[in-house]
Amino acid sequence: MEAEFSDRRLVLVSNGEPYKHHYVDDEVKMEKLAGGLTTGLDPMMQDVNGLWIAWGRGEADFEVVDQDKKIRVPDKNGYTLKRINLSQKEKDGFYYGFSNEVMWPICHTFISKANYDEDYWHSYQKVNQKYADNIKEELKEEDLIWIHDYHLALVPGYLKAENGPAVSMFWHIPWPAWEAFRTIPWRKEILVGLLASDFIAFHTDLFVYNFLNCAKKIGAEVDFENKIVSYQGSETKVKSIPLGIDYQSFSELANDEDYLKKTEAVRNSYDTEKLIFAVDRLDYTKGIEERLNAIDKFFAKYPEYIGEATIVQRVAPSRTEVKEYQQMKERIDRKIAEINGKYQKDDWAPIKYFYGSVPQEELLPYYKAADVGLITASIDGMNLVAKEYLAVQDNGVLILSEFAGAAQYLDSAIKVNPYHREELADAIYQALEMDEAERKKRLKSAKEDLKYYDINWWRDNFLENWLDCYE
Ligand code: G6P
Repeated sequence: MEAEFSDRRLVLVSNGEPYKHHYVDDEVKMEKLAGGLTTGLDPMMQDVNGLWIAWGRGEADFEVVDQDKKIRVPDKNGYTLKRINLSQKEKDGFYYGFSNEVMWPICHTFISKANYDEDYWHSYQKVNQKYADNIKEELKEEDLIWIHDYHLALVPGYLKAENGPAVSMFWHIPWPAWEAFRTIPWRKEILVGLLASDFIAFHTDLFVYNFLNCAKKIGAEVDFENKIVSYQGSETKVKSIPLGIDYQSFSELANDEDYLKKTEAVRNSYDTEKLIFAVDRLDYTKGIEERLNAIDKFFAKYPEYIGEATIVQRVAPSRTEVKEYQQMKERIDRKIAEINGKYQKDDWAPIKYFYGSVPQEELLPYYKAADVGLITASIDGMNLVAKEYLAVQDNGVLILSEFAGAAQYLDSAIKVNPYHREELADAIYQALEMDEAERKKRLKSAKEDLKYYDINWWRDNFLENWLDCYE
């Protein structure tokens, strides 16, 4: 697999960029950005000398770094990062508009939150074409073009040509049932664009099934057993390949002295018996409001934990210009204040709430310091935080929503229906009361899987399946 990577250049294309660059006293500093996709893919790209094309959000800072709009990411083998600049109009129509007000809610089956604005759609088409043009500008013979996520569904179609490049897609978010997907007025165009890929992978079997079914509904010929879609003379292979984490780095970190010191400092800053940790991008798919209701229920039902268990909830701002997200932030702030008001005593409050960007080095000590990891998304493509939490833990318990893609693969977690308030409150209690032998047994089996199905397994498996298409 390694050989194939060095023979053929990997060109990764995503909307989100992995780093922001800026000058500090004449020196270029890199700031790692949050988000499941980029945190997951960066370690993989560090191993191959490829090219990553993405939207440069920190454009003003970036332009002073390199007029050529490219920069090397220097770590291990490193890779080259090329930024695409989006105008305010493009950001509004393509990013905030179609990507985040149509594709995101529909793929997560929040149909009532979708805004099917025709101008958004035109902007989505234009910016997808812009991405395709930027790829074409860079294209070398034998390049492997690997496109990521819901912002760029039309790019494979725009790249398609006779003897065109090898194109694949990894879809990081859920693919919904036809009943949701069919509400998009441009459903056929989106599917046709995607079906120009030679290979498409999703995190779970359910998303694969939903996708195949949607393809069938628009008239494609679908072989459900071998998961092959034939449409207008070309074939697309479809498969579930769950994204893994860089397990080795996490397990090394778990024993690093400096890290252990930071973990202890975090633990000591909370004067309670038990620490429960949750971290989310501010998004209605993350189930934050439902979780808060369950936390309220937990303290009401198990008052012995008042003053004894603290929930640390970190929330990273996201898509702040979309109204839905602004309103949700206000509701969360109010609910947390209400719960804290109800149960607080002396100098203890049940929820310690931090709203702000969450740099990884600050986040990681919390993973290890927490007795319980609380991940209760209403729906999620995968959720890498669940995997990262388990990878550094040697004692903790994970509570995981059965609607996160990760639930298909993490049998050792306590699985919950995030909408079932009482079940979630009971799960928190069960996690806090679980004896050590049981906790260790669960962790051991989770770690074996995380180690085997890591980021390298994912990359190799994806590449092998993709390259098989050309045999
Ligand atoms: C999810 C999506 C990514 C996206 C990230 C952050 O993980 O799958 O494609 O980049 O959220 O969202 P943002 O809108 O900030 O790019």
